[in-house]
Amino acid sequence: IIGFAQPKVLAGKTALVSAGPTSEPIDPVRVITNRSSGKTGYAIARALREAGAQVVLVSGPTALETPYGVTRINVESAREMHGAIMQQAATADIFVSVAAVADWHIANASSNKLKKNAVGEPPELQFAQNPDILAEVAQLASGPWCVGFAAETENLHEHAEAKRRRKGVPLLVGNLAQHSMNADDTTFILFDDDGAHPLPALPKLQAARQLVQAIATRLPRKPI
Ligand code: CTP
Ligand code: CA
Repeated sequence: IIGFAQPKVLAGKTALVSAGPTSEPIDPVRVITNRSSGKTGYAIARALREAGAQVVLVSGPTALETPYGVTRINVESAREMHGAIMQQAATADIFVSVAAVADWHIANASSNKLKKNAVGEPPELQFAQNPDILAEVAQLASGPWCVGFAAETENLHEHAEAKRRRKGVPLLVGNLAQHSMNADDTTFILFDDDGAHPLPALPKLQAARQLVQAIATRLPRKPI
């Protein structure tokens, strides 16, 4: 009910959100993943929808319910997420990249379950870097307006601003991983061309609603 009381500042806009972790196979029964519950990304998808946007959520494996009115595409690996996002990016006005994308996949993943051997030698895993989804979307000629995330464990301001510039995104949301991971509250700091704008510690849905308002005020108007 509260959702319907929000002003529809994003009516007519299409928003694409990535959320959750990715899951990179080692063999058919084992994966490497990131610690992400998906709560922040799902709260943002919900807040975007409340603000009147049409929302597509590309999600790695989570235990969360799809927010009301949101179209969800399920993926597992970073490369699957990359494929789904690139397919949706052309028609999106806004891309909010909240997913904790695995930086590497296992290049020598096995199609059979790996077995222990008699001498106790562990398997040798080879890592290969995954595509940087956000950086790629940010470079699209007529792509969506991009919002990045950075969960850092220290030197948040320096890392977040460096990341914003490296990825070429107008807005990047920083938070401290140890404060927000798997928690119900989060403290966002918004980084844009004007500097750092801290938000108070808030429940994730309220933080998401404030972020959506910040996106709406910064979103460039489309030429008619
Ligand atoms: N991201 C992405 N694709 C990747 C890695 C990250 O789209 N392969 C996005 C995340 O969704 C986030 C932003 O980029 O919005 C920053 O992610 P982060 O992991 O903090 O940055 P990295 O560039 O991977 O740098 P590092 O992990 O080395 O700090
Ligand atoms: Ca990373």
